[in-house]
Amino acid sequence: MNKLECILGNFKMKNPVTVASGTFGSGKEFKDFYDLALLGGIMVKGTTPEKKVGNKPQRLVETSGGIINSIGLANGGVDDFIKNILPEARNYGTEIIVNISGSSIDDYGYMAERLSIEGVSALEVNISCPNVKEGGITFGTDPQMAYEVAKMVKKNTSKPIIMKLSPNVSNIAIMAQAVESGGADIISMINTLIGMAIDIEKQKPVINNIIGGYSGPPIKPVALRMVYEVYKAVNIPIIGMGGIMNTNDALEFIMAGASAISVGTGNFVDPYIPINIIKGLEAFLDKKGLTSYTQIIGIAHK
Ligand SMILES: Cc1cc2nc3c(=O)[nH]c(=O)nc-3n(C[C@H](O)[C@H](O)[C@H](O)COP(=O)(O)O)c2cc1C
Repeated sequence: MNKLECILGNFKMKNPVTVASGTFGSGKEFKDFYDLALLGGIMVKGTTPEKKVGNKPQRLVETSGGIINSIGLANGGVDDFIKNILPEARNYGTEIIVNISGSSIDDYGYMAERLSIEGVSALEVNISCPNVKEGGITFGTDPQMAYEVAKMVKKNTSKPIIMKLSPNVSNIAIMAQAVESGGADIISMINTLIGMAIDIEKQKPVINNIIGGYSGPPIKPVALRMVYEVYKAVNIPIIGMGGIMNTNDALEFIMAGASAISVGTGNFVDPYIPINIIKGLEAFLDKKGLTSYTQIIGIAHK
């Protein structure tokens, strides 16, 4: 039996280790490091209905802990994705989870319908990007809007739907319940916090867009707390992320209630982190005499 087999309702992966959207390209950028088929799944860079050039540079800065990015969803648009990216990605031997964004509820419906094609394993719906002016974060902070987006996506696809939550709210459990009632099959969390950095020589913000999404190890305690809260609030599985750098981090998320995890900023530090986590999880289960990692999902609540 595969101790790491991961069943998230209607969505199956060979193991619970994925890579987070925007930190792994479409996989191509990392395929020389290791066989991508080892991964549970790849959450590809955010896709929008039309091509987006993204925000003006500077778009990324390293801080004393973690990074701030303001990419602004630069991507070639959904047609380019289907024509030029998916044909290669679908042969990687892993689940291809397409991260979608839009600036209206109809955009999300359109994206869901366009991507209801072979080779797309699931849709991850980004309602929480802090770096785009319209839509994005509004959908992710208003429970009614989040519910409407989930409902619209559900109506337009039979693929598993993963709703990605923003941490930039006062009550994450309410957001989770809203997307669950809208038809989400799975929740992924968290997207980036909002941060900024100032260049004291230039005496102005480092990031051209002033603020950006803050990610990496320092956000882990926040993400973990939120996963813990959401686990108690909903009945659908959670893919946890936020500062995961090693097996111990991944185990903390699983024990808090995540049924799968995702490595984001960690990929920039060491591309082998996801692979080391897969091996580390197996070793931990062996050490504890467990037959499946599912035996420890949410165990910290007991
Ligand atoms: C450079 C960069 C680009 C990102 N782009 C996206 C994106 O397109 N869509 C999305 O849903 N999340 C995006 N994210 C958020 C990550 O997927 C992840 O939720 C977040 O960074 C927290 O995980 P981490 O601390 O492990 O990086 C991006 C993050 C970074 C650092």
